[in-house]
Amino acid sequence: GYIGSHICVELLGQGYDVTVMDNLANSNEKALRRVEEITGKKLRFYEADIRDRSAYDEIFSQNEIYGVIHMAGLKAVGESVRKPLAYFDNNVSGTIVLLEKMKEHHIKRIIFSSSATVYDLTQGECLTEKSPIGNSTSPYGRTKLVIEQMLADLYHSDARWSIVMLRYFNPIGAHVSGRIGEDPNGEPNNLMPYITQVAVGKREKLNIFGNDYDTPDGTCIRDYIHVMDLAGGHSKAVRKLEEQGLFIYNLGTGQPQSVLAVVHAFEKANGLKINYAIAPRRAGDAPKYYANADKAKTELNWEAERGIEDMCRDSWNWQKNNPEGYR
Ligand code: UFG
Repeated sequence: GYIGSHICVELLGQGYDVTVMDNLANSNEKALRRVEEITGKKLRFYEADIRDRSAYDEIFSQNEIYGVIHMAGLKAVGESVRKPLAYFDNNVSGTIVLLEKMKEHHIKRIIFSSSATVYDLTQGECLTEKSPIGNSTSPYGRTKLVIEQMLADLYHSDARWSIVMLRYFNPIGAHVSGRIGEDPNGEPNNLMPYITQVAVGKREKLNIFGNDYDTPDGTCIRDYIHVMDLAGGHSKAVRKLEEQGLFIYNLGTGQPQSVLAVVHAFEKANGLKINYAIAPRRAGDAPKYYANADKAKTELNWEAERGIEDMCRDSWNWQKNNPEGYR
């Protein structure tokens, strides 16, 4: 998928061997071929579902697995409201199967893709790992929270596990080559792919969901992070797996941006105009939150390096070179 392919580039670049398991529900195998093209290295791929028990027996016995990076989650907030059971089944039941099989095969190192959505977003704007969690506004968010709690309980039952939970803020951008990037199925739910599809002429205009929030320009504020910085956070987290323990880190830049600021940054970085209109608020959107990422800096020696211009330039470079994504 989008984030996983960038992590593969990062890890192969760092000299790791990478084995990928994916059911291709929201991804494309072509991304893996392009990862190989970018890095000049090979990876192994198994097309299998996270709930497929026999697939793990095959993968874990055919490969020497040091640790697992688990990002096999369904992630569309709106869809999760319509299909909560599918979300709990894939995300929560799937994680249980993965953890059981890891245990059975004596693999006890895992990095989990969590989300800022686990925070209680009514309780504060600048979020540290100690900020209150809970009060999710969607089934999707609740699956992330349940998995985090399950991983904590697992660690408390057996302190030989190494568990790193990474709370992503808003990943955007693409690899600088323009060969891999975000390729949503159908109408994008998220801001940046919507902007790039308007820019490439696939959508007529961007709807900005609300300009009457209590923020300087009235639009919501988020912490957008370049997907290659996010990938770098994972390679630092892999090093952390050398230690047994339960670790939680925010991966964000700490640089809040409003929706309008992102639109204007995109226009400036790429010399384009984005057609937009102000639309009603979207249910469940919090007005403002962003990361305090000091803990990742201190403990992982990681910090985001790319700014909003880089994110906008690289997102557009991907989209304009691949107007139809991987299709
Ligand atoms: N937005 C628009 N128009 C659009 C799309 C988005 O105005 O067409 C606005 C949203 O209202 C929001 C901002 O752009 O203010 C960012 O929206 P995204 O959908 O890109 O991202 P969210 O912050 O809503 O969602 C992200 C992750 C989710 C996660 C959530 C909460 O994508 O996985 O943060 O942490 F659950």
